[in-house]
Parts: sequence; structure tokens; C-alpha cells
Amino acid sequence: MKGVGMSELPVVVVGAGPIGLAAAAEVLERGLEPLVLERGSQAGASVAQWNHVRLFSQWSELVAPAAGRLLEATGWERPAAGGYPTGQEWVARYLAPLAAALGERVRFGAEVVGVARRGRDRMVDHGRDTEPLTVHVRHRDGREELITARAVVDASGTWTNPNPLGGDGLPALGERAAADRITYQVPNLHDPVLRERFAGKHVAVAGSGHSALTALVALTDLARDEGTRISWILRRGSVGNTFGGGEADQLPARGALGLRAKEAVDAGLVQVVAGFRTEAVERDEQGLLVLRAPDGRTIDPVDEVVVVTGFRPDLSWLSELRLELDTTLQAPVALAPLIDPNVHSCGTVYPHGAKELAHPEPNVYLAGMKSYGRAPTFLAMTGYEQVRSIAAALAGDHEAAGRVELVLAETGVCGGAGLFDEPAADTPAGGCCGAPAEPELISLSAPSTDR
Ligand SMILES: Cc1cc2nc3c(=O)[nH]c(=O)nc-3n(C[C@H](O)[C@H](O)[C@H](O)COP(=O)(O)OP(=O)(O)OC[C@H]3O[C@@H](n4cnc5c(N)ncnc54)[C@H](O)[C@@H]3O)c2cc1C
Ligand SMILES: NC(=O)c1ccc[n+]([C@@H]2O[C@H](COP(=O)([O-])OP(=O)(O)OC[C@H]3O[C@@H](n4cnc5c(N)ncnc54)[C@H](OP(=O)(O)O)[C@@H]3O)[C@@H](O)[C@H]2O)c1
Repeated sequence: MKGVGMSELPVVVVGAGPIGLAAAAEVLERGLEPLVLERGSQAGASVAQWNHVRLFSQWSELVAPAAGRLLEATGWERPAAGGYPTGQEWVARYLAPLAAALGERVRFGAEVVGVARRGRDRMVDHGRDTEPLTVHVRHRDGREELITARAVVDASGTWTNPNPLGGDGLPALGERAAADRITYQVPNLHDPVLRERFAGKHVAVAGSGHSALTALVALTDLARDEGTRISWILRRGSVGNTFGGGEADQLPARGALGLRAKEAVDAGLVQVVAGFRTEAVERDEQGLLVLRAPDGRTIDPVDEVVVVTGFRPDLSWLSELRLELDTTLQAPVALAPLIDPNVHSCGTVYPHGAKELAHPEPNVYLAGMKSYGRAPTFLAMTGYEQVRSIAAALAGDHEAAGRVELVLAETGVCGGAGLFDEPAADTPAGGCCGAPAEPELISLSAPSTDR
């Protein structure tokens, strides 16, 4: 290219979430120049929307290695390794200082609305290896800008694209019109307004992941104190392994979450409705919502529905790139079989990096939550390892890019989900998904002293 050489162009990172900021730190450490574009007005703009949720990962698993090194050079005080932060604390004590340490390399109020190969739509073969990428940005003040990049790491997450209540993945009939009584995240019941909204009401919780378990546990207090009635809508045919591995979970707080939700069900505070695939949301004469399934079943009228049915990636602004995504999960094809919940439920994933995350489009990577597409159980540690490998690959260090540096904690639940219409699959002997029974969990943070 003419003018500025490719090597002088920035690596554009989309999103200043945990994985985008970790990518920037890795890229910087490799001697390349990162530029983080963040739609929101702060670091961790999506995490900040679930401020009230306590993570089940400890601080030692939530600070990326290169980010920790960058921060320590600024005099940052590393949080005690064993603590479990809330979303708010993750932002305040780590993500915000990290963005500050990156300084001008992070731009807020800058939404990426498109990425393409410069001067070429996805049809054009010529120059895909030699031309840089063009990033289309819309600033908060309405200004538009084109930024030329040597590479793009899309770490924009999936938070703003929640799955609907409809069991077939499309909004149920009447779902949009019922928006006043539906919330698509774990409600913050410490907020007096929301607490009042749910107190003494009939609440349906739809979903079977950790968000559903977190919502059930939070609502249980209201059930005890305020008589809130909880119906738990499972699309799958039975509860099966929904509560997770309990004490067998190698992340103890994740296991404990499932056990607390199970206690609430066993105590009769939660009514389980399994195999319910919501097709329509209707209103009764009081304005309450009646959920209907294709088999004719209905849920008693509910005041509120908490829809925590997972997320999906927004791929619309990547349409001019040659991505190779799995047709089921919408994750990179080499990663998809490692994380497909139809096959695995163990929560671990074989170490993967730049090689598995590559696309036919050179120097474009999806990383972090977005790389998992629709698959559940993404862990920040996975993303940190992804971006370490991607940064190494971009810097030409293919040996480091291909090195295996992480073994993740298993959930203690083995085998495929196998639960949609069938009873749970038997647990295989030994470790999950063919992994050793007790994989080594490598801590990401430097040892720190408890304060
Ligand atoms: C409630 C909850 C609890 C979780 N708890 C844990 C846990 O305990 N342990 C664990 O390991 N993981 C946990 N996770 C999973 C995961 O680690 C987090 O979701 C994490 O925030 C993912 O980081 P990310 O950087 O990939 O995406 P995000 O945090 O979603 O960040 C993406 C960023 O990109 C920005 N963005 C989006 N679109 C654009 C655009 N077009 N242009 C510019 N910017 C854009 C967003 O504003 C956001 O700031 C949890 C997830 C949730 C939802
Ligand atoms: N405390 C914490 O740290 C915490 C809290 C919350 C979330 N998280 C993390 O956040 C991420 C997202 O978790 P999540 O629970 O929001 O999503 P998730 O893990 O994707 O789980 C959502 C589940 O809901 C079910 N579902 C989908 N559509 C449905 C429908 N229409 N009706 C009923 N059920 C439906 C699906 O299971 P079936 O196919 O079986 O129906 C799906 O697996 C994960 O990485 C999780 O670990 C962590």
C-alpha cells in the first residue's frame, strides 16, 4: 500500500470489555499499536449492566496476564487472588484502571458499524492478503470515520443480543408487545424499584444457564420474605444436569450457585415447568401475561417474565468479510466442535488460539464471548488465552501463538446435554469430555497476598 506502511497501522480491537482490553494489552506488549473502539462511555460497558451479579470466578482468574503487567507498572494494586468480585467491582478495580493505563488507545462513544477489506467487498479476490482493513465508525456525536487497520480483533461480546423467549429462537407471538412485563437479564433486587416490582408477584424465569440459576437464587429471598411465586420455565425436557456439578465443579462458587438453586426448588419455592417451549405471550383481562406452548399448555398468569435464555452474536456489520462460522453455533468452525453443548456439557474447552480462531479473511479474529457464538459457559480465562495467542500470531511469533497455555476448570457435569427431549445421558467414567479427571488449573495472576 502507498503512504503509511501496513506495519504502522493499528490493530483495531472492537469493544473495551474484559477481552478487548486484554487484547490491547497483549498487542501492546508485542510492540504493536492497539486501538480500542468502544461504543459505550466506559470500560466494561456491558459488564456494568450486570453490576449487581457476583462472579463465580476469583480475581486470580479475572485479570489477564499482560493486562496485569501493564497495570502493575502504573502502581495498580492487584486485588486479593481469592476474592469474588461483582460486575461493578470487576469494572472499578480492574477494567477502568486498565483502560486508563491504555490511555488514548481506547476511544469511547465509538461504535464500529462495519469492517471490510479496503476498497473491496467480500466478492473481490484480489488484494485480500495485501490490502489493509477499513473500519467504519460512528461516533456518539453522529460523526462518521473510516479507520485503516492492519488487523481487527472483534471482542464486542454478545450482551446486547439476548435470545428471545420464543422456544424456536424467534420472538414468541406477542413477546414484543409484552415488553413492559419482560426483562432480559437477572434483575437487580437490591434496587428498591425493581424489588417492589417483583415483590409478592408471580414471576416466570425462562432459561437454564447460570443467569437463570442466579435469578432463581435472587428471587428466592423475595419468595420467602414477600410471598413472590416463581415458575421456572425450562425448554429442555427435564431438569437433568441444569444445576451443574455442585461439589464436583472445579470452580467452587459456580458449583455452589447450582446447589443453592436446587435447594430453592427442593424447598418448594420454585415450581419447575419442563419441556415448555413458549410459542405465544397473551394478556388476560387483568393485563397479566399468559405464556402458551405449542402442546397447548399454559403457565398461570404471570406479572413478570425474566428471560435469560442466552445470547447470540451480531454478525451484521461483518457481512463484507470472509468469515468461516459453524452453521449451528455461529462460532469459528475449528472452535465449534470443542464447545458445542449438544456434545459437551463439561464446561471445559481444549486450549485454542489464533489457529482455531482464524478465518479465510486474513488478520480478522472474533475473540471473547462473541467467539463462542451461541455456545454457553464462556469463561474470561478462555478469552485471555485467545487474545494472547492472537497477539503472538499478529506479531509473527507462531511458536507462542500455537503454544498450549491453559487448562480450564470443568463444571463436574459430563457428557452431552442430551436433554432436549431425552433423559440426561449417563455420566462417563473419569474426567469430562475425555479430559483427565483432575486437570491442572493454571492461575492467570501473579501470586498476591491477601489483604
Ligand atoms: C451475568 C454474567 C456473569 C458472568 N460471570 C462470569 C464469571 O464469573 N466468570 C467468567 O469467567 N465469565 C463470566 N461471564 C462470562 C464472560 O466472562 C463475560 O460476559 C465477559 O464480560 C465477556 O467479555 P467480552 O469482552 O468478550 O465481552 P463484553 O464484556 O460483552 O464486552 C464487549 C464490549 O464491546 C462493546 N461493543 C459491542 N458492540 C460494539 C460495537 N459495534 N462497536 C464498539 N463497541 C462495541 C460493548 O459496549 C462492550 O463494552 C459472565 C457473563 C455474564 C453475562
Ligand atoms: N454468577 C455468575 O458468575 C454468572 C451468572 C450468570 C451468567 N454467567 C455466565 O454468563 C454467560 C451466559 O449465561 P446465561 O445463563 O445467560 O446463558 P446460557 O448459558 O447460554 O444459557 C441459556 C440457556 O437457556 C436455555 N434456553 C434457550 N432458549 C430458551 C427458551 N426460549 N426458553 C427456555 N429456555 C431457553 C438454553 O438451554 P436449553 O437448550 O437446554 O433449553 C440455554 O442453554 C455464561 O458464560 C455464564 O457462565 C455467570
